[in-house]
Amino acid sequence: MNKSVLALATAVALSLCTLSAYADPIKLKFSHVVAENTPKGQMATKFKALVSERLKDKVVVEIYPNGQLFGDNKVLEALLLGDVHLASPSLSKFKKYTKKLQIFDLPFLFNDMAAAEKFQQSKAGQSLLKTVEKKGLIGLGYMHNGMKQLSASKALHVPADAEGLKFRIMSSDVLSAQFEAVGGTPLKKPYSEVFTLLQTKAIDGQENTWSNIHSKKFYEVQNYITSSDHGLLDYMVVTSAEFWNGLPDDVRTELKKALDEAIAHGNKVAAEKSKSDKQAIIDSKRTTVIELSKEERQQWVDKMKPVWKKFEGIVGKDMLDAAIASNK
Ligand code: LMR
Repeated sequence: MNKSVLALATAVALSLCTLSAYADPIKLKFSHVVAENTPKGQMATKFKALVSERLKDKVVVEIYPNGQLFGDNKVLEALLLGDVHLASPSLSKFKKYTKKLQIFDLPFLFNDMAAAEKFQQSKAGQSLLKTVEKKGLIGLGYMHNGMKQLSASKALHVPADAEGLKFRIMSSDVLSAQFEAVGGTPLKKPYSEVFTLLQTKAIDGQENTWSNIHSKKFYEVQNYITSSDHGLLDYMVVTSAEFWNGLPDDVRTELKKALDEAIAHGNKVAAEKSKSDKQAIIDSKRTTVIELSKEERQQWVDKMKPVWKKFEGIVGKDMLDAAIASNK
C-alpha cells in the first residue's frame, strides 16, 4: 500500500469512528392510552427516567400517553410497521394476534392480584407471553393495573339489575360473553370514547379499574359504581421482533433491565392506586359506591362463571387449571 492510499484509509477510518461516536441516539417511542397519573403512565415515566440515566446518548424514550399517537386498536399494527417501538395494551386487546391471552378475561378467575401475579410468573403464565411471537411481536413482561369494577347509570346489586343495559367493553369476546350472560348488551369501543359515550348516555355502563375510573373521570358521569372485583385488567408490555432484535446486545440488555424495574414500580403504583383512587372517588361524592353482600356477589359469580366453559377449548384446559391453581 503506498503512502497516499494509507493516508486515505486512515482518514476514512477516523471519520467513521467520529461518526459512530456522534451517531444519533436510538429513538424509542412508547405509546399508550391511559393518563400519566396511572400505574401504566407511571411505569412509562420511570422507564424513560432510567433509560436517560443509564443509556444517555444511546437511547431517547418518547412517551405518548392518552392515545395521542395511537389507540389500542391500532398500536400493535403500528409496532409492526415500526411507527412505535413499545406499547402496553391490556391483555384483552390481543385477539388478532393470539387467542390464548383471553384466559385473563375470564370473570372471577383470580381471587386477587396476588393470584394473578403468581400465575403470570409461573411457567404456564410466562409461556403465554410467547404466543404473540409468530405474529412478529415480543412480549417483554406483564404489568398490573388491577381488578375491574362495574359502573352504570343505575345501581347494580345483582345481575338482574344489568338486564337490558348497554356496556362498553374492550375488544374481547370473553367480555362480550360475560355481559351477555347477565342480559346486558356489550359494545366494543375504544377507551378514548368511553367518557363521551357515558356522558351522552349512548351507553349505560362500563367496567374498569379504580385508577382508570378515577383518572378518566368516569365516576363523574356514572351514578353508581359496584365494587365487584369481577375480573382482571392487566397489560402486556410488547415490542416488535424487528426493532428489539435489531438493537445492539448491550442496549437491549440495559433496556430490559430498566423495563423490569419500571414494571415493578408500576405494579407498586397499581396496588396503591386501587385503594387510594377508590377512596378519592368515594370522597368526591359524585357517585355512589356499592359494596356487595356475600350473597349478592355470589349471584354475579353464578351468572358469569359459566362463560369459562365456552372458552375452555380456546384457552386450553391445562392453562385454565394452572390459573385456577394460582388462587391457592
Ligand atoms: C380500557 O380500554 O378500558 C383499558 O384497556 C385502558 C387501559 O389501558 O388501562
